[in-house]
Amino acid sequence: MQKRVVFKVNLFFFLFVWNLRKCNCFSEVIFEGRKYVAEGYPFSITCLKSSYGVPKWTRNGLTIDPLDPEYVMTQESFPNDGIRMELRVEKALWKHRGHYKCDPLSKKSHEIEIVPSRESEQELSHQARVQLRPNRTLKLVCDQEENAVFPINWYKDGSRILESPETPRIRMEGRVLSISKATESDSGEYMCVIEMAGLSYPFADHLGSRIKVTYPSRVKKFPTQIRPILHRNWSVECEVQGFPVPRVSWFIDGLPIEEFRLNDSRYDVIDNPEGLPNSVLFINEVQYEDNREITCIADNVDGPDQTIAQLAVRSKSLFEGGKEKCFSISVTCKSD
Ligand SMILES: *[C@@H]1O[C@H](CO)[C@@H](O)[C@H](O)[C@H]1NC(C)=O
Ligand SMILES: *[C@@H]1O[C@H](CO)[C@@H](O)[C@H](O)[C@H]1NC(C)=O
Ligand SMILES: *[C@@H]1O[C@H](CO)[C@@H](O)[C@H](O)[C@H]1NC(C)=O
Repeated sequence: MQKRVVFKVNLFFFLFVWNLRKCNCFSEVIFEGRKYVAEGYPFSITCLKSSYGVPKWTRNGLTIDPLDPEYVMTQESFPNDGIRMELRVEKALWKHRGHYKCDPLSKKSHEIEIVPSRESEQELSHQARVQLRPNRTLKLVCDQEENAVFPINWYKDGSRILESPETPRIRMEGRVLSISKATESDSGEYMCVIEMAGLSYPFADHLGSRIKVTYPSRVKKFPTQIRPILHRNWSVECEVQGFPVPRVSWFIDGLPIEEFRLNDSRYDVIDNPEGLPNSVLFINEVQYEDNREITCIADNVDGPDQTIAQLAVRSKSLFEGGKEKCFSISVTCKSD
């Protein structure tokens, strides 16, 4: 309900701006929706655009077939020159990750990143994959037929990789792609395709072979002690990195949060604003008994990482500087 209101406000602002600009004639869009989705769960992307341009959903530059039963698309026109489009997927799978556009001409896109389930990561561990080593040279070999006479092109997460003076780290020789001084942003899903004249990417999408460049989970460490305030709500986010995006789980005094919650429903885990599943631990109305040890574990196919903190509940007055005030009053009293 609240989301809808926010959206309506965005809409009016958008239309207002749009009317001011009147036609620069390239399409502006606003996206809404989470970035991270756990495999098997639904997601939706909402897009608001002017009626200029073509209302059409694409993923990594490929048109999504409106008849594809995996996607549910709805579209609503506003009298004031705007279109609201929604794309919905009931059961997110790895193949749904990518950059979505609701207007192929617009520059903006919405990224969907899938957090794989434990089961599908087991499968993944048997597939072609290369673990990223920071600062080293990343070398990928295309397993297309060796004697192919056609040139090989590489794509990363759906975008064509180009050798150019602006990207000196990238070299392509024969079937090998080399990226020197690799960083974690080079992780992702790579695809090599043989592109014959006139048969470019949309065709190639079905023929390419894919290689995942992965790196292990990493969590940003908590301080050893965290001090929630008595009687207030408290939450902490576990900030994780890794590719594939890790699954986040929590332990309270060594017990999985799901079990701990059975005894104390004040504890909960929620998604962060970008939708990363379970990445935020929440305690409703902190009590002194919450002096507990909390552990966040992130896990992906390349391995887990964790961080631990001890909660030490403090009273509100300490936080607001009440102690100092009290102290100075008592000094004044004594000197009188
Ligand atoms: C990579 O190199 C940079 C600068 O040369 C250095 O600061 C960084 O610690 C290195 N990273 C790793 C993981 O070795
Ligand atoms: C604490 O969170 C609960 C549930 O989200 C909410 O109903 C309540 O108003 C919050 N209390 C405070 C003090 O913010
Ligand atoms: C739940 O509470 C009961 C009684 O207070 C206690 O015996 C039990 O160990 C608690 N279980 C957990 C999972 O904390």
